[in-house]
Amino acid sequence: MSGRRVLVTGAGRGIGAATAAALAEPGGTVVVNYRSDDDAAAAACARVSAAGARAVSVKADVTDPGQVDALFERAAREAGGLDVLVLNAGVPYRYERLARLSPEEFEAQWRVLTFSAFLCLRRALPLFPKGGGDAVFVLSAAVTGDPPGFMGGYVSAKYALLGLARALAAESGAKGPRVHCISPQMTDTAFIKGFPRPIVDAARETQGGSLLSPDEVAAEVLGAVKAP
Ligand SMILES: NC(=O)c1ccc[n+]([C@@H]2O[C@H](COP(=O)([O-])OP(=O)(O)OC[C@H]3O[C@@H](n4cnc5c(N)ncnc54)[C@H](OP(=O)(O)O)[C@@H]3O)[C@@H](O)[C@H]2O)c1
Repeated sequence: MSGRRVLVTGAGRGIGAATAAALAEPGGTVVVNYRSDDDAAAAACARVSAAGARAVSVKADVTDPGQVDALFERAAREAGGLDVLVLNAGVPYRYERLARLSPEEFEAQWRVLTFSAFLCLRRALPLFPKGGGDAVFVLSAAVTGDPPGFMGGYVSAKYALLGLARALAAESGAKGPRVHCISPQMTDTAFIKGFPRPIVDAARETQGGSLLSPDEVAAEVLGAVKAP
């Protein structure tokens, strides 16, 4: 196998699709996981193929243990192992104060951001090369400083994801895999479509006049994976 073997969760669109394309290299394989949007996933796979890698599209809900098992069995079969896992899947957030958030909305964030990462890791770790591999956690700038208000379900789940990343790093030590945390500022994707306009405008101003593009975040992931 001459190229990098990659699996990106939630790679049908947004940051995940851009990351799948950025990590694609000639001779490699990129598993593009998504949940529902077949057309978007086909477009994401086309970007991977254009970069010279083999694209393997796998529709699987990463909050479901059985579907995660099937996803990683397919990855093992198609790629013969895994070099990079990107834990990226997420669902749009309803910007709301905690008292008005339903238990279902809160749980949904924890399931897709945190529980899914555990489910994927336990299947990915045995597939990494001995002493190697890269596990990339897509966190958020919301966990790098004072968190924003009205995003309690999201922020709490991302902090838990940070905890999982640190637990993995402690467990792996020098034996690998390497653990990377990427904490993007507000990025122009479907994730923020339901955010109040003034919130998006304020973020744009704080970020020097523009939102990040998914490709800019993907470049950061690639940089982390390529770092010696
Ligand atoms: N956008 C931002 O401002 C921002 C900033 C910091 C961090 N992030 C993080 O970046 C990550 C990606 O976000 P994004 O902005 O690119 O969002 P996005 O455009 O909404 O894309 C989310 C992707 O996740 C997939 N997905 C959702 N639930 C899934 C599930 N249960 N199983 C498998 N795939 C699932 C979706 O697939 P389908 O479309 O097929 O359902 C979609 O491809 C998230 O973890 C988010 O928290 C985003």
